[in-house]
Amino acid sequence: MKTYLRILSYAAPYKGKIALYIISTLLAVIFAGLTFYMVQPMLELLFNPQQQLTAQNLPQFSWSLEYLRSWISYKASLINVQYGRSSGLLFVTLFVVSLNLLGNIFKFFSNVNLGTIRTKVVEDLRESVFAKLIGHQVSYVENERRGDLMSRVTSDVTEVEYSVVITFESIIRDPFNIIYLLALMVMESWQLTLFIFTVLPVSAFLISKITKSLKRDATSTQHTYGQIMSTVDETIGGVRVIKAFRAESYIKSIFDKFNIEYSQLTRAQWHKKALVPIFSESAMVAVVGMTMWYGGNLVYAGEMKASTFIAYIGLFFLLSRPAKGLSQAFSNIYKGIASGERLFQLMDAPVTIKDAPDAKPVKHFSAGIYMENVWFAYGKEPVLKNINIKIEKGKTYALVGPSGSGKSTLAELLLRFYDPTQGQILLDGNDLRSLKTNDLRNLMAVVTQEPILFNDSIYNNIAFGIDNINENDVIQAAKAANAHNFIMETENGYQTSVGDRGGLLSGGQRQRISIARALLKNPAILILDEATSALDTSSEKIVQEALYKLMENRTSVVIAHRLSTIQDADEIIVLDKGEVIEQGSHQQLIAKNGLYRSLYFSQQMEM
Ligand SMILES: Nc1ncnc2c1ncn2[C@@H]1O[C@H](COP(=O)(O)OP(=O)(O)O)[C@@H](O)[C@H]1O
Ligand SMILES: [Mg+2]
Repeated sequence: MKTYLRILSYAAPYKGKIALYIISTLLAVIFAGLTFYMVQPMLELLFNPQQQLTAQNLPQFSWSLEYLRSWISYKASLINVQYGRSSGLLFVTLFVVSLNLLGNIFKFFSNVNLGTIRTKVVEDLRESVFAKLIGHQVSYVENERRGDLMSRVTSDVTEVEYSVVITFESIIRDPFNIIYLLALMVMESWQLTLFIFTVLPVSAFLISKITKSLKRDATSTQHTYGQIMSTVDETIGGVRVIKAFRAESYIKSIFDKFNIEYSQLTRAQWHKKALVPIFSESAMVAVVGMTMWYGGNLVYAGEMKASTFIAYIGLFFLLSRPAKGLSQAFSNIYKGIASGERLFQLMDAPVTIKDAPDAKPVKHFSAGIYMENVWFAYGKEPVLKNINIKIEKGKTYALVGPSGSGKSTLAELLLRFYDPTQGQILLDGNDLRSLKTNDLRNLMAVVTQEPILFNDSIYNNIAFGIDNINENDVIQAAKAANAHNFIMETENGYQTSVGDRGGLLSGGQRQRISIARALLKNPAILILDEATSALDTSSEKIVQEALYKLMENRTSVVIAHRLSTIQDADEIIVLDKGEVIEQGSHQQLIAKNGLYRSLYFSQQMEM
């Protein structure tokens, strides 16, 4: 119920539309009911032609439907007498048809407004889920399965639309409709109406039983769907590896497993759902049957006109639609609520990396970044242990160490992708946690081993994330990154699309574009995380050249796989198992006879 109300709250900004919707819906319902109610005088003309041929008296005026009915009969009898009974019948028929037409016009307005509310609510909901997703810290997005997150933004939102938003309609229209029709029915015959109250609650109870168990299933269904999405996502991303390792059948078996699981779960739900009509519709027919029998006897006994009885049955059938609508809405709502819960889970997950309310802006980097007694762990095991380093403005620092020693993690702490579990990182004397994160990241640029490009033009990939860019700057950056020439050779130059994740470019080309991106940002602090290690020797040379240009006159933290590229660094920091074990210039470290020296010489041997 809480989830339902929360979804409902997304409709709040559309109060005006909702009011229009409610008014037009109520009018539509009123006219639809009246149509049937007014059928009685028409039937009376058919069944009792003789009586209708003599002019009746104008009934005493009152604000009631009964008056309207007798007024119609009165008018019809006048026309009958003057123009013949066919004209009287035509008059009543036209009257009933116009009532129905009016009802449908209001229904049109009601549907138009509902359509607007519904699509707007879904738009807003999807927008806020996505905004929350971007707002989350790196660790949240990485720890969830990708497909699962994707299915939340896509299919869960759709599910909410189909099963929750759609109940907006039922919730307003159907109960009103039911009450209104019941009122008309009571006016026709209270004895007959009593019957309905005896059987309907029984079927309503049975339906609610089934609904409860359906909701339990729905949660696991959506979860399995997320796993299907994950598998597809990984397959598309890793198609080369899958083919090269002939792993098609492996990945297919994973997919099949989830697919079958999903199919089994949904099948079970369909089967349960199939039970619903047995109760609702059979109950309905049983009620109708009993009503026929009882009502027929009332007619025989002369307590009710046959025409009234037929109008009554018409009203009763009219009642079946909102009753069914309401029970369907309730039997579907569980799915939407399960999806809604998944959406709100994402929205409510705590954002741990966020600006303090009094976060300070930073526009410049003037002295240095100090890590003081920094510890960090992704899970239980510490990945960085008691790190103490100083990164002074204008100098180049190299981080080296075996793979898994924590180099990338250390770099990501500087960007505040994570916060240290102990100790602090100070930028010009301010703890990173006290600064505006956006400002902090504005001071830095990163080039990683696997450049991340987006399916857009080369131009937009370079200008990525920077406002107010002029074309000349982009071209200058590309030139400095040794990228301009190859860009000009592509079909549409800077407007050429790079394909999904940059797949239409070579590794070296992608890397030069990401260097151009960093150059354009002109950051105070540059972080290079094994920027050339994915490249072959010839493109490594071109890229390395571009990197040196990028590092000129800048504070740089370079994580290098190949030690020959960082010999000139002002300071080399050697990490092993999350600890700084050596620190100094190349000459000092070679003289030390430690890990650096052995790493260095083993690489020399390979050359
Ligand atoms: N997102 C992550 N979640 C959990 N553990 C991680 C994550 N990233 C890295 N690690 C672990 O942290 C340790 C250091 O990793 P990393 O900083 O990437 O090392 P390096 O860059 O030196 O190769 C490794 O043991 C790695 O398994
Ligand atoms: Mg790394």
